[in-house]
Amino acid sequence: MVGPALAVNGLTKAYDGRPILQGVSFSVAVGTATALIGANGSGKSTLLKCLIRLVEPDSGAIAMLGRDVCALAPPDLRAFRSGVGMVWQRHNLVPRLSVLTNVVQGVQARRTGPRGWFQSIAPAAVRAEAMACLDRVGLADRPLARVDSLSGGQQQRVAIARMLMQRPRFILADEPDASLDPQSGEDVMRLLLDLVRQEGLTLVVISHRLEHTLGYSDRILGLSQGRISLDTATRQADAASLRHFFDHEGSTP
Ligand SMILES: Nc1ncnc2c1ncn2[C@@H]1O[C@H](COP(=O)(O)OP(=O)(O)O)[C@@H](O)[C@H]1O
Ligand SMILES: [Mg+2]
Repeated sequence: MVGPALAVNGLTKAYDGRPILQGVSFSVAVGTATALIGANGSGKSTLLKCLIRLVEPDSGAIAMLGRDVCALAPPDLRAFRSGVGMVWQRHNLVPRLSVLTNVVQGVQARRTGPRGWFQSIAPAAVRAEAMACLDRVGLADRPLARVDSLSGGQQQRVAIARMLMQRPRFILADEPDASLDPQSGEDVMRLLLDLVRQEGLTLVVISHRLEHTLGYSDRILGLSQGRISLDTATRQADAASLRHFFDHEGSTP
C-alpha cells in the first residue's frame, strides 16, 4: 500500500494572535505536481514552511513521506528535512564561488551522520554527482563559472541542482519564478515539472502566475480565509474562477 506523500489535517497557525491558517486540510499523491495559489498575504508561504516546521504550526497534523512531522524530535526532524528539497524565490547561493562548488555544498543538507563521515568518501564521487545534477538542470557546460556571472534563471537552476544533491523525494517551491523574466520563469517551472514526471518526485509549488499554475501542475489548491477553498484537477480548472486567487487579499478578518 502506498499512502499519500503528504496529508495535512486541521492545520492552524496564528501570528501574534492573528489567525493565518484556520484549519487547512488536504493531501497530495506521490509523483504529482500541486500548485498552491492564493492572494498576497493569504498564508501560502506560512503553510509551506509549516510543512517542514520552519514555522511551528499551532495545531493540526502533518504526515509527510511516512513521518508524523509534528512529532519529530530535533535529530529526526533534521533527517526528515534532508529528504525535502526547498526552492525559494531568492536562492542563497554563494555568488563569488563557482557553480560546481555551490552544487557540491548541497551535499551537506543530506549529511545527517557524524561530521567526519563524508570526508572519508572520495570527493570525486561527490563532484561526479554534482556534475550529474548540473546536467539535470541543463548547466553541465558551466561548472567553473562564478555564480554571479550567470543570469537569474541560470542561478535559479544552479540552486535547483544544489537542492538535488539532497536526493530529495519531495520538493517545496515558493514562487521559484517570481524574480525571473517570463521565459526563465517558465523554464524553471518546466524543470520542476520534469523532475516530477521523470524522477517521480512530488512537488508542491506556490505559484503567483495564472499561466504557470495552469501549465505546470496536475492539481490546484486555492488558499483563502485561512482554508483550502479550492481543490481541483488542473485539467478541469476554469481560468476565470481562479483569477481572484491572484488578487491582493487586503486585511485578513
Ligand atoms: N514571521 C511572521 N510574523 C508575523 N506575521 C507574519 C510572519 N510571516 C508572515 N506574516 C504575516 O502573515 C500573513 C501571511 O503571510 P505569508 O504566509 O507570507 O502569505 P503569502 O505567502 O500568501 O503572501 C501576512 O499578513 C504576513 O504579513
Ligand atoms: Mg509568500
